[in-house]
Amino acid sequence: MNYPKVSTKLIILLGNPLGHSVSPPMHNRVFDVLGMDYCYMPVEVTAENLEKVFAGLLRMNVAGFNVTIPHKIRIMEFLDQLDPLAETIGAVNTICLKDGKTIGYNTDGEGFIRSLTEETGLPVAGRRFFLLGCGGAARAIAMTLAFKGAQKIFICNRTPAKAETLVNEINNKIRHCAEVVEQTVRSQAEKLQDCQVLINTTSLGMHPKENVLPIDGSLLLPHLIVADIVYNPLHTQLLRTAEAAGCTIVPGLGMLIYQGAAAFSLWTGVEPIVSEMSETVYSLMKTRQEK
Ligand code: ATR
Repeated sequence: MNYPKVSTKLIILLGNPLGHSVSPPMHNRVFDVLGMDYCYMPVEVTAENLEKVFAGLLRMNVAGFNVTIPHKIRIMEFLDQLDPLAETIGAVNTICLKDGKTIGYNTDGEGFIRSLTEETGLPVAGRRFFLLGCGGAARAIAMTLAFKGAQKIFICNRTPAKAETLVNEINNKIRHCAEVVEQTVRSQAEKLQDCQVLINTTSLGMHPKENVLPIDGSLLLPHLIVADIVYNPLHTQLLRTAEAAGCTIVPGLGMLIYQGAAAFSLWTGVEPIVSEMSETVYSLMKTRQEK
């Protein structure tokens, strides 16, 4: 990697903790390969220091930011403008600077959709989706699906009241296309029949809960595309069960890569080399899993 110089434009990742983030190697590899004078740097910051650190960084040679847990919501207070999708989602993961103004975006949902489309060719418009879980990631995915014209978005969550809140927000703010599903095999089976895509956004299946399925295995019918946003392990128990049942599967690392690719083009105006990003991330994850 080239050493940063006075001229080097900085892209800062704000979050806490950041020790396991794969974003710095993923973006720096592409800056290197394309010979771009940029450097992506993780900056761990507490909620207490966020405002001051952000203000200080804006006085440096910064071209953009990524924002991750736990600052995706709070950071919005300090921005000049919000992209309409980020405003609707209520969270920001990418910040660009334009004419000295900070503009917040959310590329998480777009990252998921690009991963889905690359892997399966399925367009979003007019299609029917079934989401398990309704945390921050589900929110970004569901809102982006609604923005992009999904015909129906079913949402099923352990805590039904949270699903209800998200469904109402989608229906009121974007389009009347979302519906809560009861967490029973019978209700899930009925709705899944007419869906094209099942998406797990819960933490079930993630290390250390590798052997847990977020839905009854008998519901994984072969017509379904089954996507998991969990990427540790790379192929979750859900994806392995779905593949064995004849479903098309979409592993979670794609969302991580494409949310980064979308952010990269927002900061720089340049399309990144996705294959380089993907190779970097896969080899890092494999090394970590072998340890
Ligand atoms: P993220 O922001 O990464 O999406 P999150 O906000 O912590 O993460 O959301 C995690 C999701 O996984 C939630 O929908 C959560 O359900 P609750 O709303 O009921 O908490 C779901 N989840 C976590 N552990 C679960 C479990 N053991 N069984 C079912 N759902 C679970």
